Amino acid sequence: MMTIERFRVLWDTLLPIGRDPDGAGWVRYGFSPADLACRDWFTGQAAARGLTVETDRNGNVFAWWGDPDAGDAVVTGSHFDSVPHGGAYDGPLGIVSGLLALDLLRQRGVEPRRPVAVAAFAEEEGSRFGVACLGTRLLTGALDPDTARALTDSDGVTLAEAVTAAGHDPEALGADPPRLARIGTFLELHIEQGRALADLDAPVGVASAIWPHGRWRLDVTGEGNHAGTTRMADRRDPMLTAAYTVLAANKEARLRGGHATVGRIEVTPNATNAVPAAVSAWVDARAPDDATLQGLVEAIRVRAAERAGRDGTSATMTAESLTPVVEFDTGLRDRLTALLGGAPALPTGAGHDAGVLSGHVPTAMLFVRNPTGVSHAPAEGASDADCAAGVTALADVLQELACR
Ligand code: GLV
Ligand code: MN
Ligand code: MN
Repeated sequence: MMTIERFRVLWDTLLPIGRDPDGAGWVRYGFSPADLACRDWFTGQAAARGLTVETDRNGNVFAWWGDPDAGDAVVTGSHFDSVPHGGAYDGPLGIVSGLLALDLLRQRGVEPRRPVAVAAFAEEEGSRFGVACLGTRLLTGALDPDTARALTDSDGVTLAEAVTAAGHDPEALGADPPRLARIGTFLELHIEQGRALADLDAPVGVASAIWPHGRWRLDVTGEGNHAGTTRMADRRDPMLTAAYTVLAANKEARLRGGHATVGRIEVTPNATNAVPAAVSAWVDARAPDDATLQGLVEAIRVRAAERAGRDGTSATMTAESLTPVVEFDTGLRDRLTALLGGAPALPTGAGHDAGVLSGHVPTAMLFVRNPTGVSHAPAEGASDADCAAGVTALADVLQELACR
């Protein structure tokens, strides 16, 4: 079979897992039954290839070709978990491509001198517990395990409980220097989350940098009251402060060349005939550099406070996570670009486990063209031919790195 056919066959076995029955994308939250089913799928695929499967202390799964303890491994991979009703490709494409790239290397008769592994990292999107790249942040020590264990999902389930239900020991969560030290190089292949490759007419690109980004919770409190009897002049309505801040965030981002989004909101008590007592809104902000991001968030904070003063409400903004700018290893990036016949290098506004790992090991990313440019929504996609080109590019890179 050709790589394109192998891709389709393998992809089709994973696709039904976590798919919304009404056709509204995929729902695979970290440590949910759908996510665990994906991990079982991965374990089965790894076993069928004679790879050694190992789950680390933080729920990250590794499938090894060669002896992990030999060190200086070349590791590739991504994540299975999705945003609510997201696309099929964000995450899983990197894992499926990793398995198929290993198949291709074996077909070529390659005998790597360094161990090679495919990894599936835990809760990358942060859609369940609020912290993106949870698995790699724990692995690298960027997230304190006590803080992590106490994180809760929207049903009040703690990460400690979810990890226990998934059959892992929550007390084991935390930095794992020996496991991290095994990784000599990390590569993440990912669906592109924009239209740059489509515009450049290139199936595969190489990442240059990740914009700094973070999440802030805006809590606005006012006074709950009757929607019919409370005079307009007497209201202390937190929804007004939140709504104004949403618009202000959009404007401040445009002015600075950054991005700001409010995609999640909680209203208390959430009643049609009541002035709300409180509103929480989550601000996702990103910018080309750390100073611009800081300026953007500060401007949003000031605008929220000013408006709260006028509405008789109080507004506070609390950082939930912050990832500084990531510049990928330039030597590695240039090597990949040359190897892939001058594939274009692109920055991205999306966060990735590769960004977290890049602070510890030489890391690179490959992007596969996404003609719609849509991401975190069901319309995200890539042609089978481009996915096969991604597999071949990944195999070429793994071969070059693992055989040196
Ligand atoms: C992850 O995909 C993020 O950028 O939020
Ligand atoms: Mn994503
Ligand atoms: Mn992703």
